Amino acid sequence: MSSNLSPTDRAKFASAQKASSFVEDGMKVGLGTGSTAAWMVRCLAERVKNEKLRIQAVPTSLRTAKLATELGIKIATLDALGRLDLTIDGADEFDADLNLIKGGGGALLQEKIVAAASDKMIVIADVEKRVETMGQFPLPVEVIGFGWQTSQKLIEKILVSHDLGGRRISRRMLGDKPFVTDEGNFILDMHLGQIGDAPQLGKSLNQVPGVVENGLFINMCAVAVIGAPDGSVELQGKRSAI
Ligand code: A5P
Repeated sequence: MSSNLSPTDRAKFASAQKASSFVEDGMKVGLGTGSTAAWMVRCLAERVKNEKLRIQAVPTSLRTAKLATELGIKIATLDALGRLDLTIDGADEFDADLNLIKGGGGALLQEKIVAAASDKMIVIADVEKRVETMGQFPLPVEVIGFGWQTSQKLIEKILVSHDLGGRRISRRMLGDKPFVTDEGNFILDMHLGQIGDAPQLGKSLNQVPGVVENGLFINMCAVAVIGAPDGSVELQGKRSAI
């Protein structure tokens, strides 16, 4: 499966393959979104086929639902399954405490709901996603369409009182049209450079009425499975747990 891949894709594949090996027969599994998560879905589908693994899966986006279904993974709604054993998902950045920025693919809302309903979240990523301080990757914030510019102004006010490297906000576009999430909302990308206090920022952003959710995943992830271009994999737990 991993021949002819770019170095980054080899790293993503390696982490996805390793993480998919943690899924056990009978588990209820959350399936993330993005290119790394797509590798994980493919690896899991291989195991379902070859090992007759019986799992029930909750996808975090329409894209992932389509891929999983095409590959023969049985999917269900979150409400049908309730609590999940494990969610495996990608990230745009992660730090030593395994706090994450997610939502580069625009699926942060379902991703956070599914991760929060899981006993364990494993993040899969190539080594380039590991950062000292988060914020280089623009932080996605999902806002409802009604009054989105007013929401943006309120967010701008909030950002002033936070320790950040930058404060520019742009609405995400897809070609010449605004990007719209699976839930019909917009994404505002915050170009923050670095985030001094990510937990506090996450809480503040969610105080704005038009904000549905932000892409900071604080204290949600237990383990990172980090792939390198040579195909090696490193497991990282939270710094606080070491
Ligand atoms: C999707 O909304 C995101 O949270 C992805 O998990 C994240 O953007 C990582 O994507 P890649 O695996 O494609 O880098």
